[in-house]
Amino acid sequence: MTKQLAPKVLCVVGARPNFMKIAPIMDALAASPLQVRLVHTGQHYDEAMKHQFFNQLGIPRPDMDLEVGSGSHAVQTAEVMRRFEPVVDAEQPNAVLVVGDVNSTIACALVASKKGIPVVHVEAGLRSYDRTMPEEINRILTDQISDLLFTTERSARDNLLREGIADERIHFVGNVMIDTLLRHVKQAVPVEQVLSGFVNAPVFLQSATGYGVLTLHRPSNVDDPVVLERLLVTLRNISERLPLIFPVHPRTESRIKALGLESLTLTPRIQRLPPQGYLEMLGLMSRARLVLTDSGGIQEETTALGVPCITLRESTERPITAEQGTNTIVGTDPEKILSAANEILSEALSKGRKAGQVPELWDGRAAQRIAVILEKWLK
Ligand code: UD1
Repeated sequence: MTKQLAPKVLCVVGARPNFMKIAPIMDALAASPLQVRLVHTGQHYDEAMKHQFFNQLGIPRPDMDLEVGSGSHAVQTAEVMRRFEPVVDAEQPNAVLVVGDVNSTIACALVASKKGIPVVHVEAGLRSYDRTMPEEINRILTDQISDLLFTTERSARDNLLREGIADERIHFVGNVMIDTLLRHVKQAVPVEQVLSGFVNAPVFLQSATGYGVLTLHRPSNVDDPVVLERLLVTLRNISERLPLIFPVHPRTESRIKALGLESLTLTPRIQRLPPQGYLEMLGLMSRARLVLTDSGGIQEETTALGVPCITLRESTERPITAEQGTNTIVGTDPEKILSAANEILSEALSKGRKAGQVPELWDGRAAQRIAVILEKWLK
């Protein structure tokens, strides 16, 4: 079959966590007979949140950039839909492929399904069972209108079956985010290089205890002043035992400033950094003694790297990282965070249980499995 006559797949990315998921899929589809187009919704638009990921991960330039930008959930979702519809009309794809759980995911899935175009969802079936998370709503709704659902862990199939999704639509293929990690881990930027030029760098590079990495951006953690202040006080406390490198998400940066909480991070044992590129984050995480985060993807990446992770949320949609991997779900209670950190930092445990194991099919070949199944399905 020549490419021109082959079925056409319109792939969608929008926000930072989408980029590492789409990269291996674009590669695998390029090697398949299928025609592929890439649409960037522009949900994330800063250099630090967008361009450097395309360059570092070798993602092809998007065929279309919708330049949607920020807004309330309603405005952002509606704007993606409004701008995506004419693209679908012009391209007439045989399927629309969406990844993850961001607003761009549900917006584009909704446009496609209303037009009778099959929706393919990569990273389907994850559930935190916490509907206050905007991503949880995006996950449930995207899965309901998807025709082909690719999962990263076995529990996802059970979640989908409970929600009435037909078994034959679900395919357990592994984790495309880990495809990207395995492909790039050797090119990770060394921590010395990431920190060069920052005043506190010597504290981190000469620390006998090593260092920790901290990320924080969930609205439930950073939008509420009481929760954010309590978290920052606790993390500052941990930094006295383990110096912390803190790449700050734009949402968090603006909240810390607006709430006048900057002084809580002003210690030589906390190094704030601007949002980092993929290879820089990989370099920071892979040598960390401990990672503290509220991100979804980082829970999976630390499990693949074998680095202990404390998740600053009450639940996870990625239970395998806690059951088999290095993740501990701790929540935001200061005492629980401190005691989890102390436990991990005590030598015996960090060499024992928290070493974890890499989950089934997180082997670097998930995207290839997706391409094979998708090609067959579209025929
Ligand atoms: C979004 C995703 C979240 C994901 C996160 C990773 C949804 C519902 N949320 O959250 O699942 O974990 O991305 O980053 O889709 N901003 C910039 N520059 C940018 C993008 C955003 O400065 O390039 C600022 C803006 O002030 C914006 C705020 O960050 O209002 C939040 O951005 P938004 O895309 O709404 O949500 P995230 O919190 O990034």
